[in-house]
Amino acid sequence: MKVNLSRLNKKIYIDLKTVGVQAQCLGFRAYLVGGVVRDLLLNKTSSDWDIVVEGCAIKLAKTLANKNNSRLTVYEQFGTATLEFVNGIVMDFSTARSEHYPQPGSLPIVKSGLLENDLFRRDFTINALAVALNPQTWGRLQDFYGGYDDLKNRKIRVLHKQSFVDDPTRILRAARFAARFGFKVETKTLRLLKAAIIGQAPMTVKAPRYYAEFRKLFFEKNPGVCLRQLANWQGLGFIAPDFQPDWKSLARIAKGVLRLRKDPFFFAKDWSGVYFLAFWAQLDGQRIKQCAKTFHFTRLEILRLSGMVEIPRICNQLIIPRMSPSAVYEVLDPVDLEIIYFIRLTTSVSMIARRIDQFLKKSRLVDLQITGKDLKGLGFKPGRELGAVLHVVLLNKIDGKVETHQDEMVLAKSLHFLSVG
Ligand code: CTP
Repeated sequence: MKVNLSRLNKKIYIDLKTVGVQAQCLGFRAYLVGGVVRDLLLNKTSSDWDIVVEGCAIKLAKTLANKNNSRLTVYEQFGTATLEFVNGIVMDFSTARSEHYPQPGSLPIVKSGLLENDLFRRDFTINALAVALNPQTWGRLQDFYGGYDDLKNRKIRVLHKQSFVDDPTRILRAARFAARFGFKVETKTLRLLKAAIIGQAPMTVKAPRYYAEFRKLFFEKNPGVCLRQLANWQGLGFIAPDFQPDWKSLARIAKGVLRLRKDPFFFAKDWSGVYFLAFWAQLDGQRIKQCAKTFHFTRLEILRLSGMVEIPRICNQLIIPRMSPSAVYEVLDPVDLEIIYFIRLTTSVSMIARRIDQFLKKSRLVDLQITGKDLKGLGFKPGRELGAVLHVVLLNKIDGKVETHQDEMVLAKSLHFLSVG
C-alpha cells in the first residue's frame, strides 16, 4: 500500500524527498516511522519527524547537513542524530536496531539491525508502521505486524507477550492512546497489561522515569478519561496502594474545559497544569512532599501544589461585595495562573467565575504607557517609590480612571506631589 505523502506540508515533503534521495546515494534505506505514520494514516497532524535508517543514521544525517547547510547534533553513544533543516523542520535520525532487555524495566541493550527488528521493539502495532522514503519505494507502507488493520479496527495491540514487562511505561501509553483515539485495548493485550500491573511491573522502573511517562497524560485533551481507564486497570497503585484522585473535581474540570474551549480567549490554553493540580489536590502536605521527592516533581509543580492551600482564602476575598476591578486584580495578581484557572473551573460561585474572567481577559492585559524613565524625568528617584507609583497608576488604569499617556503622566505627577508634600 502507498501512503499519500503529498498531503504533507510542502516544506516537510521536500525535506523527506531529500532524505530519501540522499539515503539512496549512500546505499542506505530510510523510513519515516512511529507515531507520525500512525497520525498520517489517521489524517491527524504530527510534529515529530522520526527517521529510521537501514545503514548508518549518523552518516546520512552528516551528509545531509553538509549538503544542505542544516544544523546537526550527533549523539554518538546512541547512534542517533538530530537535523534542523534551513526551513526549520527538525528530524531525528536513528539506525535501525534490535534490542533486548537484560532485566524487566531496565533500559534496553541495542544493536543495529533491519527495519523489521526496529519496528518489533516498539510498543504497539499502530506505532510500528513505517513509510519508505527512497525514490524507488517512495511512500510504500511497511507494515510487518498488522498495524494498519489495527488502526482501521481501532485496536491497541502489543507486538509480543513480554512487552509490558520489558517496558511497563507502556501501560501508561496504552491508556493515553486508547483515550486519545477512542481505541480499545485488544483482549489479549489487556490481559497482559493487567497481569503486568498485578505482577507489580511498574515497580521495576525507576519512579521518576515512570512518572515522566505518567505526566504526559495531563497533556492529553481529556486526561480524566486516561486516568479513569488507568484506575479501572488498578494502574494508579504506583502512587500509593490506596490512592484515588478526586474524580468529581476532575470531571468538573473536564466539563468546564469543554465549555471554555468554545471561547476564543481560552481556546489555545494548555490545561495540563490545571489537571496536574486537580489530580494531586487530594494529598495532604506531607504526602505531597513524599511524592514530589519520589517522582521528581519540578520546582514549579511543587510551588503550585503548595499554593493550593491558599484557595479558600482567595475565594473568600473574591466574594466581597462591590469589588473594583483593581481590587480583584490585587487579590489575583500574586496567585499562580494555573491555580486561578483551577478555581475558575471548580467554583460554583458565579461571582467568583465572573471576577476571574474579568481579571484574565481584561485587567491582567492592561499595560501602562508611561515607563520608569518618564517618572525619572518627573523627578522620581529610582527604587521602591517609583515602582509603587507605577503600580498605583496601573490600578487606576484597570479601573478605567486613566486612559492616555497624558492621563498617566498627570496622575503620576500628582502622586509625586503628594509624596514630596
Ligand atoms: N516507543 C516505544 N515504547 C515506548 C516509547 C516509544 O515503542 N515506551 C516508540 C513508538 O514506536 C513511538 C515512538 O517510539 O511511536 C516515538 O515515541 P513517542 O514520541 O513517545 O510516541 P508517539 O507515538 O510519537 O506519541 P505522541 O503522539 O504522544 O508523541
